[in-house]
Amino acid sequence: MSENTPAWASSTTWKKVAIWVTGGSFVVLILLTFDSLSKTNPGAGKVPTYSVINQEIDYRMDEAKKHYMPVIGKDAPLFGKALSEQDAEALVALGKKTVQAKNCINCHTILGNGAYYAPDLTRAWLDPNWRSPAEREALMLAFLKDPQPTAVTFGSGRRMPRLGITDEEAHGVVAFLKWMSAIDTNGFPNNFKTINHQED
Ligand code: HEC
Repeated sequence: MSENTPAWASSTTWKKVAIWVTGGSFVVLILLTFDSLSKTNPGAGKVPTYSVINQEIDYRMDEAKKHYMPVIGKDAPLFGKALSEQDAEALVALGKKTVQAKNCINCHTILGNGAYYAPDLTRAWLDPNWRSPAEREALMLAFLKDPQPTAVTFGSGRRMPRLGITDEEAHGVVAFLKWMSAIDTNGFPNNFKTINHQED
């Protein structure tokens, strides 16, 4: 390096800049990680606690926010039995593990991850194809355990294979799908007609 090299062009300056930028980005990344966790942990911000499966869940246009939002309503315990936070967490966890073990996202999308061969499952709990809130739980359980004879057709023109899901696992999957439908996903998917409000 010659003596007349200006400071901005010297390699020492750029090494220092590189170190500060890397260090600074690292700190920002850590702050963002904690910020995201504070919003995505169950019970914090956008994700409900697991016991939300004891409530009625809907999905409606929020005029102030200008996008669809989950709406938690009156008591409506899943399978007719209100669960403690701990028991609800265990049931949802069983469902989530089943969904992972059977690789549902090979065909479906869940919270933006997965494939579009089959319907998006993020709001599957609210799909009007389950006919009515009174019939839904039984229809979902039957469908998950043996999809072909019990399909209520979700408009895909495709068929879901039998995945060897046990009765207990099916209950977990339904709990997982109900819990997931109460997650605030910033309005995605949009324009969704729910089983409770088929008129809009
Ligand atoms: C090989 C592809 C495939 C896999 C893997 C698969 N599905 Fe499906 N699933 C489908 C297809 C196709 C449909 C639509 C059936 C129809 O239209 O009648 C469907 C429909 C559904 C529906 C109804 C959709 C709605 O809107 O309510 C649910 C719920 C569902 N699947 C859950 C699951 C779960 C849970 C798993 C994993 C345990 C899974 N699926 C794995 C292909 C698949």
